[in-house]
Amino acid sequence: MRPRSILAFCAFIVTVRSALRTDRQFWTDLARNELEEALKVKWNLNPAKNVILFVGDGMGPNTVTAARIYKGGESHRLVYEKFPHMGLLKTYSANKMVPDSACTATAMFSGVKVNQDTIGVDASVPHRDCEASLQSEARLKSLAALALEANKSAGFVTTMRVTHATPSPLYAHSASRSWECEASLPDNSSCKDIARQLVEDWPGRDLQVIMGGGRQQLVSNATGTEHDPISLSPWTCYRQDGRNLIEQYKTDKSTRGLKHSVIMNNKELAELDVNNTDYLLGIFSNEHLSYEHERNKGPEGMPSLSEMVGAAIKVLQKNKNGYFLMVEGGNLDMAHHRGWAKIAVNEALAMEEAVQLAADMTDAEDTLLIVTSDHTHSMSINGYPDRGSSIFGIAQPSSHDKINYTTLSYATGGPGSFQYYVHTDANGSRVMRRDPSEDDTEDYKYTQVAGIQLVENYHGGGDVTVYARGPYSHLFHNVHEQHYVFHAISHAAKLGA
Ligand SMILES: *[C@@H]1O[C@H](CO)[C@@H](O)[C@H](O)[C@H]1NC(C)=O
Ligand SMILES: *[C@@H]1O[C@H](CO)[C@@H](O)[C@H](O)[C@H]1NC(C)=O
Ligand SMILES: *[C@@H]1O[C@H](CO)[C@@H](O)[C@H](O)[C@H]1NC(C)=O
Ligand SMILES: *[C@@H]1O[C@H](CO)[C@@H](O)[C@H](O)[C@H]1NC(C)=O
Ligand SMILES: *[C@@H]1O[C@H](CO)[C@@H](O)[C@H](O)[C@H]1NC(C)=O
Ligand SMILES: *[C@@H]1O[C@H](CO)[C@@H](O)[C@H](O)[C@H]1NC(C)=O
Ligand SMILES: [Zn+2]
Repeated sequence: MRPRSILAFCAFIVTVRSALRTDRQFWTDLARNELEEALKVKWNLNPAKNVILFVGDGMGPNTVTAARIYKGGESHRLVYEKFPHMGLLKTYSANKMVPDSACTATAMFSGVKVNQDTIGVDASVPHRDCEASLQSEARLKSLAALALEANKSAGFVTTMRVTHATPSPLYAHSASRSWECEASLPDNSSCKDIARQLVEDWPGRDLQVIMGGGRQQLVSNATGTEHDPISLSPWTCYRQDGRNLIEQYKTDKSTRGLKHSVIMNNKELAELDVNNTDYLLGIFSNEHLSYEHERNKGPEGMPSLSEMVGAAIKVLQKNKNGYFLMVEGGNLDMAHHRGWAKIAVNEALAMEEAVQLAADMTDAEDTLLIVTSDHTHSMSINGYPDRGSSIFGIAQPSSHDKINYTTLSYATGGPGSFQYYVHTDANGSRVMRRDPSEDDTEDYKYTQVAGIQLVENYHGGGDVTVYARGPYSHLFHNVHEQHYVFHAISHAAKLGA
C-alpha cells in the first residue's frame, strides 16, 4: 500500500468500526426504524407543482450499493434510499436489449421507446435517417415542452455537454445523438444540428435553465486552455461554421426583452443575480465538466453538480406555476466506461449531494422528486469480502490461480483494464493475471479487472431503480417500463392530455 492509501484505510477503519455491531439489538433497531417509517407512508395526492428528475447516467443498482458502502458502510442509507416509494425500470429500447443513453432519455422524457442513438423521435426513425426524423409525426414532445405549455418553467443541468445524449431529447429531434454540431452532420444534410436546435428552436429557446459543458459545440473555432482543452476526438463535435450560438442566445433574449444571464465559471455563478435572471445559460467547459475530484474549484473553475442545481432551483422557483427540472450526473457513466469504479462511485456521491440539496430546497407537499438512472454498467460486487472492508479493496485470493482479486470487477473493459488480466512477464510469456495486491486499488484511476476486452466497458442491460418522494410518488411501485416515467410525471403534474 502507498502512504496515501494507508491513511485512507485507517480513516475508513475508524469510521466503520462503530458500525460493525452484530448483536441482536442492533439488527432489531435497524429493522424497527424501517418498519416505523413504512407504517407512516401515506399517498400524497396533491398535484405536483414542481418536478425534479435526477438521472444518474449508468447508475445501476450495484453502483448505488458501492456508493452507500463507500460513504458509510453496509448499513448506511443514501438520501434517496429514504424516499417513501420506489420501483424498477426495464431499460431495453425499441431495437436493443441493452440500450444507450439517447434512447433511454427519450423514453423517460417523451413516453415511448425508440431506436438506439436517436434523440426525440419515435421508432419509425432509423438511426442516422435524417429524412425520417424531419417528419412531424415522428417528432416527440418532451416533459420540458409540456411544462412550458402549462406555463411552468423548465430547464436542465448536466455535467456533460448540454448537447449530449441525456439532455438533448428534452429539446431536440435528431436521427443521431452524434449530430451535436454541424461538423458531424453528413454532407449537405437537411437536418439541423442539436446545438442549433437548443438555441434557435422551441422548446430549447424557451428553457429557463441550461447548464453544463459543450462550448465547442456552440461557438465556432472555440479555443481551449490547459485546464479546459478543446477536443477533436470522434466522440465529440467541433463547430466551424462561423456561428456563435452563445451570442445568438443573448441576442434572442435581448430582442424578446427577457432578463437573462450567461455565465462561464464559478465566479460568475457565485455572483449570479437571480432576481434579474429569468433565463440562465451556464456553459462551464469546452467539453464535459471535470470529474468532481479533479475539478478546479477556484473562481475560474467549474461548479459542482449541486452548485448548479442550487442556482437552477432558485431561478425556476420564481415561476408561481412551478417548474420541471432534469438533472444529469453524467460523469458517472464516463468513469464506468473507462473502468474507473472509484470515480464512478464518487460521482454517484456527488449526485447524492445534489439530491440532498434539492430535497432541502423543496417541499415534499408540492414537489415530485425522482432519482433514477438510464441504464446499468457491468460492474459487479463479489468475492465474500468481510463486512467493513473497503469496497475498493481485495476480496480474497482465487482458489484457482491463488492470486488475489478485488471486490469490484467489470464484465467488459478497455485496454486499460485488460492489462490487469493478462500481462507479459520478463521472458515475454503470457501470465494469467496481475496481482492487485501490487497496486493501489484505492486510487481513483485504478482500473478493475475486466473479463472481455473491448474499446471500453459497455453498458449493462439490467433494471435500474427509481426512487420517488412527493406528489404521486406512489405511482412508482413495481417493475415498470422505462417510458412509464413520462406517463407517471405527466399524470402527477397534470401535463399534456
Ligand atoms: C398560459 O398563459 C397564457 C398567457 O397568459 C394563457 O393564454 C394560457 O391560457 C395559459 N395556459 C395554461 C395551460 O395555463
Ligand atoms: C454537396 O453540395 C455541393 C454543392 O451543391 C456539391 O458540390 C457536393 O457534391 C454535394 N456533396 C454531396 C456529398 O452530396
Ligand atoms: C474556423 O476554422 C476553419 C478551419 O480552420 C476556417 O476555415 C474557418 O474560417 C474558421 N471560422 C471562423 C469563424 O473563424
Ligand atoms: C430578490 O427578490 C426577493 C423577492 O422579491 C427579495 O426578497 C430579495 O431581497 C431580492 N434580492 C435581492 C438581492 O435583491
Ligand atoms: C491478498 O491480499 C491481502 C490483502 O491485501 C494480503 O494480505 C495477502 O497477502 C494477499 N494474498 C496473496 C496470495 O497475494
Ligand atoms: C525466464 O526464463 C529464465 C530462463 O529459463 C528463468 O530462469 C526465469 O525464471 C524466467 N522468468 C520468469 C519470470 O518466468
Ligand atoms: Zn454510456
